[in-house]
Amino acid sequence: KRTAALIPAAGSGTRLGLGPKAFVEVRGKSLLARSVAALAPYVNEVIVALPEGLELPPGLPARAVVGGDTRQESVRRLLEATDADTVLVHDAARPFLPEHVLLALLEAVPETGAATVALPVADTLVRQSAAGDWGELTPREGLWAVQTPQGFDRAALLDAHRQAARDGFAATDDAGLLARLGVRVRLVPGDARLFKVTTPGDLALAQALARTLDE
Ligand code: C5P
Repeated sequence: KRTAALIPAAGSGTRLGLGPKAFVEVRGKSLLARSVAALAPYVNEVIVALPEGLELPPGLPARAVVGGDTRQESVRRLLEATDADTVLVHDAARPFLPEHVLLALLEAVPETGAATVALPVADTLVRQSAAGDWGELTPREGLWAVQTPQGFDRAALLDAHRQAARDGFAATDDAGLLARLGVRVRLVPGDARLFKVTTPGDLALAQALARTLDE
């Protein structure tokens, strides 16, 4: 059985303001290079979706496809670029992937053909009122914040993507596309270090973390 790691990295990084986010460096190594390095030893191939006109930095054990206008479109193109049995989809914007999390995910995927890393919510959750104030409290009991990587049977995920495109259904992740079709998605406990680098504050956090994790 072959496994491919698919890395959507075609975002523009608007909220960070430093150009295409995957190419932003943390202590001399790009977010993309860090994500590729974390996955490559565990899979048969790594494929990256890049913004049009950009190329893979030299030396990465990966090949590239051109991404789409949305993350969902980028992942669909990645799925069409491999015939692996199993795929791991992982955001380039989550550069710190602990090995024990990846191993737990790989173990969970065969259970139902769909699994995602996620973190139990630790904060109090509130929906804002019409005026933008404190509105309705949402009990956090049983709520998880979904991260990546997510692992799937490739054929099932590709089918879910095609159905979503047909229905005009948009999701910010891939597990949601299978869940809406009734597939059981296993939840694998993630890690705070898997946070997504989105804002300048996240980048500062990434720099501090890299200082303690590198070497
Ligand atoms: O924008 P956001 O941080 O949610 O993006 C999550 C991941 O999806 C990032 O790694 C980003 O590069 C990728 N992406 C993509 N194609 C797009 C938009 C985002 O591959 N059109």
